[in-house]
Amino acid sequence: MTPDKRIIAAVYHLSKDLGKHFKLQDINLQIANGEFVFLVGPSGAGKSTLLRMMYMDDYPASGQVVVGKFVSTRMRRKTIPNLRRKIGIIFQDFRLLEDRTVFENIALAMKVTGTGMGEIKRQMTEILTRVGLYHKRYDYPPALSGGEQQRVAIARAIANRPAVLLADEPTGNLDPAATKNILELLFKINAGGTAVLMATHDIDLVKSFGQRIIYLEEGRIVRDKEMIYVGDIRDRIDQSKVSRRAEMLSDHEITDGGKE
Ligand SMILES: Nc1ncnc2c1ncn2[C@@H]1O[C@H](COP(=O)(O)OP(=O)(O)OP(=O)(O)O)[C@@H](O)[C@H]1O
Ligand SMILES: [Mg+2]
Repeated sequence: MTPDKRIIAAVYHLSKDLGKHFKLQDINLQIANGEFVFLVGPSGAGKSTLLRMMYMDDYPASGQVVVGKFVSTRMRRKTIPNLRRKIGIIFQDFRLLEDRTVFENIALAMKVTGTGMGEIKRQMTEILTRVGLYHKRYDYPPALSGGEQQRVAIARAIANRPAVLLADEPTGNLDPAATKNILELLFKINAGGTAVLMATHDIDLVKSFGQRIIYLEEGRIVRDKEMIYVGDIRDRIDQSKVSRRAEMLSDHEITDGGKE
C-alpha cells in the first residue's frame, strides 16, 4: 500500500476483553480505498468480533476504529444508521427477509437511504443484472439456492454504493461451485472500486489469490502480508493461472510480517 493512498477503514490499538477467556489485543490494520483484504484465522480467533467492531455494533475498550469519516470514539447512537449506509455487510447465513421478494429485500435497503421508488426501479435492473439474478427478482429467498441467496445479500449490501464491504465468512454455507461464484462476484465488485474485507477460516481457499491476508490468532494479528497485485483479481480465480500468478507475485512482496 502506498502511503498516499486514502485509507477507507482502519483500526488503531484496539483492545477488548470478551468474556473470561478471550480478548482482542492491540489490533492495528488499515485498508486503502479499493483494496481487497482477507482476514483469516481459525474458529474462535476473533474475526467476527473484530468485524462487528468495524461496523460498530460493539466498541473497543481501548483504541479506535475509523471507517470513512466515522470514528468509534465519537459515535453517537443516532449516527450509527449513517455509518451503516456507508458500508455494506454480508454474513454466512445471508440474513434476508424471507417473506419479501428478492426485489423487496434490495429495495428496502435503498429506501432507508431516502431513494424514491422510481429511482430504485431504475437502479434495480443494473444491480440485479450485476449479481445475475434479474430473472429471479420476484422470487422469495427460501425458493433460492444458498449461492443465490448470498448474491441477493450482496446486491443488498452494494445497493447504496458503499466504499467498503465487510464480509463475514460469506462462503461458509456454500458448496465449492457457489463459493467460486461468490468470490468472483466479490472480486468484480472490488474491481469496481469498493474496498472489501472478507473474513474466513479457510486459508486454503484464499491463499492462492495473491491478495493481502491478515492473519488473526487468539485475538491478535500475527501476520499482515501486503502484496502488490497486477491486473484483474478475477483472473486469479482460474486455477490454471493461480500458481503462476502466486509465483510471480511472491517476487513483489513489499512487506512481510512484523507490521505494527
Ligand atoms: N460478547 C461476547 N461475550 C463473550 N465472549 C464472546 C463475545 N463475543 C465473542 N466472544 C468470544 O470471542 C471469541 C472469538 O469469537 P468470534 O466469533 O469473533 O471468532 P471467529 O474468528 O469469528 O470464529 P468462527 O470462524 O468460528 O466464526 C470466542 O471465543 C467467543 O466465544
Ligand atoms: Mg466468525
